[in-house]
Amino acid sequence: MAQEIMQVSPLPPYMMKALQEADYIVHDHTHIKDPGALSKVTALIGTGSAKVDKKLLTMLPNLKLVAICGVGYDGVDVTACKEKGIVVTHTPGVLTDDVADLAMGLVLSIGRRIPQADKFVRNGDWVDDEFPLLQKVSGTRIGIVGMGRIGRAIAKRAAAFDMHIAYTSRDAKADVPYAFYDSPTLLAAEVDYLVVAVPGGDETKHMIGSSVLQAMGSKAYLINIARGSVVDQPVLVQALKDKHIAGAALDVFWDEPAIDPELRRLNNVVLTPHIASATVETRHAMAALTMENLQAFYEGKSLPSPVPECSALCDLAAVATTTAAPAA
Ligand code: 8YV
Repeated sequence: MAQEIMQVSPLPPYMMKALQEADYIVHDHTHIKDPGALSKVTALIGTGSAKVDKKLLTMLPNLKLVAICGVGYDGVDVTACKEKGIVVTHTPGVLTDDVADLAMGLVLSIGRRIPQADKFVRNGDWVDDEFPLLQKVSGTRIGIVGMGRIGRAIAKRAAAFDMHIAYTSRDAKADVPYAFYDSPTLLAAEVDYLVVAVPGGDETKHMIGSSVLQAMGSKAYLINIARGSVVDQPVLVQALKDKHIAGAALDVFWDEPAIDPELRRLNNVVLTPHIASATVETRHAMAALTMENLQAFYEGKSLPSPVPECSALCDLAAVATTTAAPAA
């Protein structure tokens, strides 16, 4: 029997194809054609930007799984899911390299003003002008906010640039050799590049606000490859306008994809459209892991990558679904 699932965000064509090939019936939350289908939906599927709140959960009485194609799941009300015995999965690990690569790309891009230099050549400005001298990047101090998988991968890359590495996280990590600071503000005062690599959500909302930006000072850069919500964006825009910090390179925004025009007008920024995991290899690996989670769920097997908060629930879910027919 084909399983009925619902997509809660746009999905890429290769994922839709994989779902069709595996015989899932995919309902679209935004264009639901058959309200009767709501009670048949047993799994939700969406990307890192998907919103799964209490209201949606109450519409789906038989929901048992939320499969997120992304490492971040801050749009999902995990507490409400757990209360209803719904398991949430995500795609950690497979995108770590890409996200860390982009973080370093942004460090170099803003530090050496690579996009601005590109524009300088294209505009023909080189003919009668010299591109300004900038500060050397190699050997500078990098501070990483969050020492999880991605933070560690950034540190590894920064080490190859002879950067002095420090970090902040909930606790000091016994297995990393980098200097630990108790708070983002203390870290910010000691670095040239402050790179944000923590998950989004209530716990980290506006973690980078006025005290951190003040501590950074006028020579330091902010890099964000995590979530827009971690940074107090209006405060950041003001700090950039007033040159209280040297600049920022941002892949994520509070208001993406329609970014604040004030931010877009600034020269001391590099802005990318949430592309940290956007390579063919990685996006396909993320889709494959999401499919594996779905399939394991319907086959009553243990789930490859539940979110940490749901690991305990998973064994129970496996037991509960052993009677469900496989999707394909
Ligand atoms: C994408 C991401 O937004 O993994 C995440 O948390 O933010 C990104 O990789 C997305 O989920 C791609 O499907």
